[in-house]
Amino acid sequence: MALLLALPVSIYAQELKPVQLPAPKTEGGKPLMQALKERKSMREFSSQEFTLQVLSDLLWAADGINRPESAHRTAPSAMNMQEIDIYVAKVDGLYLYDAKVNSLIPVVLGDIRALTGKQPFVKDAPINLIYVADLAKMGRLSAVDADFYAAADTGFISENVYLYCASAGLTTVVRGSIDKPALAKAMKLGADKKIIFAQTVGYPK
Ligand SMILES: Cc1cc2nc3c(=O)[nH]c(=O)nc-3n(C[C@H](O)[C@H](O)[C@H](O)COP(=O)(O)O)c2cc1C
Repeated sequence: MALLLALPVSIYAQELKPVQLPAPKTEGGKPLMQALKERKSMREFSSQEFTLQVLSDLLWAADGINRPESAHRTAPSAMNMQEIDIYVAKVDGLYLYDAKVNSLIPVVLGDIRALTGKQPFVKDAPINLIYVADLAKMGRLSAVDADFYAAADTGFISENVYLYCASAGLTTVVRGSIDKPALAKAMKLGADKKIIFAQTVGYPK
């Protein structure tokens, strides 16, 4: 078991290929005040897939690198720990967003969308984002502080996604209603990874 956990994630998903995302479009969209006016949670999704461009724009807005010279991100993070990883559950499999190379790294082959939440709509949407804290990056903190900062840092990412969705005409809802042990198992997460929230994103039905 220990050996399995030490293996790179890609070993689990040998038939899924890495996805190089196009450069994010960092201009356009609705103005911020209009996006704030339209920000809301919605729970009905069509099955329409995202283009790679939309996926790239969404993930960059969520927590992409907006200052390449320092590798800082669109979302703030406590002590710049950058401890929140974004996993993307799609119909073909589970991927990890690698902001540094703007790619999706294969993690698990197959559709685990239904396991990303307890509400039925999670399986209808093209993607569910799963926000996972990498506890190895938070080793200097107490467990209470690590939980606190991981939740706060996830909140900023989630709100970025909400605003991007409002700006781009997409539908989203952040979710805490998750069977976390079942999802962690499906995601093959190691003991140093902790699921914080998930967020469903798609097009309106
Ligand atoms: C931390 C957090 C957890 C949430 N968990 C869920 C959830 O599990 N399922 C759900 O349908 N909505 C969930 N929501 C969405 C809230 O229900 C929603 O934000 C609230 O009803 C206000 O609606 P609004 O976002 O449209 O303003 C969650 C929101 C937050 C901030």
